Amino acid sequence: METFTLQTPTQEAGLATAMEVVYQWNYDPEVDELRSLYVKAAEAQWIGARDIDWERPIDLARFATTPLGAGIPIEKTSYWRSLPGETLVELTRRTAAFRLSQFLHGEQGALMVAAQLVNAVPHTDAKFYAATQTMDEARHVEVFARYIEKLDEIRPIAPSLKGILDQTLTTGDWMKKLVGMQIVVEGLALYAFREMRNLTQEPLLRDLLTYVARDESRHHAYGVQYIERCVPCLDAAARAELEDFAVECARSLIDRNAQGFFTTLLGIWQEVGVDPVAMLSSLHDEREEITRELPPGRRLGPVQGFVIPTLRRCGLLSERVAARFHEFLRENFGSRVAGVNVEEFLANLPDLPADTARWVVGELQ
Ligand SMILES: [Fe+2]
Ligand SMILES: [Fe+2]
Repeated sequence: METFTLQTPTQEAGLATAMEVVYQWNYDPEVDELRSLYVKAAEAQWIGARDIDWERPIDLARFATTPLGAGIPIEKTSYWRSLPGETLVELTRRTAAFRLSQFLHGEQGALMVAAQLVNAVPHTDAKFYAATQTMDEARHVEVFARYIEKLDEIRPIAPSLKGILDQTLTTGDWMKKLVGMQIVVEGLALYAFREMRNLTQEPLLRDLLTYVARDESRHHAYGVQYIERCVPCLDAAARAELEDFAVECARSLIDRNAQGFFTTLLGIWQEVGVDPVAMLSSLHDEREEITRELPPGRRLGPVQGFVIPTLRRCGLLSERVAARFHEFLRENFGSRVAGVNVEEFLANLPDLPADTARWVVGELQ
C-alpha cells in the first residue's frame, strides 16, 4: 500500500489568492435561466468509470484521424502528406497526448475556479450552478487523465496556459474569473472538443468527448447568461478593464510566440524525426492556399469562431478591443482568417450557434 503523506512530490507550492467570500441570504430563485441550468446540470450527471467502456483498446490507426488543432490545419500541407504512415501515427499520438494534457490541466484549473465561484459570486442561483460545474470538472479531470495514460503519457502544462489559470485563480474580481474561465478558457475548450470529437474516428475518445462537451456547453451557457446580465451594471472603466482581461487571456492562449505551446510542438516533431524547418516552410508557403477555400462568415478557429462572438454577445466587444483582436489574429493566422481590416473582421464574425448543446455534437454548423 502506498504511504499517505501531506506533501507529495507532484504538488506545487500554494498559490495565494485574493478572493472574497460572499454570503447571500436570499434563497429564492432570482435569475431563472441560471436556476433552470442548475436543474439541467443535476439531471445530466454521469459517472466516468460506469458510463464509458474503458476496456476498449485504443486503435492507433483510427486515432491518426484525430485533428491536431493547429490554427491552420498542418495536416493539409504537402510536407505532412509526404510523411510515411508510421511517422504520422506516432506524430498524431504524441501531439494529441500533449494537447489532451493541456485539456486535462485546464480541467483542473476549471475545477478550482468553479469551486471559487461558489464562494465569490453574489447570487444564489449562480452559486448553485457553480456547484454543479465543480462536480462536472472533477469528472473531466478524471476521464482525461485516464485516457491520456492509456494513449501515451501526461505531458506538463504549457507555461502560457498556466499563466492564465494563475491569473484567473488569483484575481479578486469574480467577474474576471467568469470572463477568464467561462468565456475564454471554456470557449476554447468547447471549440477544440467539438472539433476533436467530430473528426476523430477513435471510438473511446469520441465517447468521452461527447460526455465532456455536453457538460461544457452548459458551462459556456452559464458564463453567457450570467455575464450578459452583469455587464450592463458596470461603469465604463470597469467594463473596459474586463474587456482587456479577456483580450489578454485569449492572446496568451493562441499567440504562437507565447511561451510553451509552440516550442513543445517543435520538440515533439523532432522526437519522431520530422524536420521542423521543412514542416514550417511548407506551412508558410501553403498557408494562403490552405485557407483560401474557407468561406467568409465561417468559424475559423476557437477565438474568431467562438470566443469573440461570445464576448460580443455579452457586451464585451467594443471597437477598441475589436481592433486589438483583429491585430493579433492577423499576425498569427493571416488576413484570410482575420480579415484585411477591422470592418471586414467584424463583418465576417459568425454568430454564436443557436443551440450550443447541439452544435457541439456536430448537429449544427
Ligand atoms: Fe471541463
Ligand atoms: Fe467546463
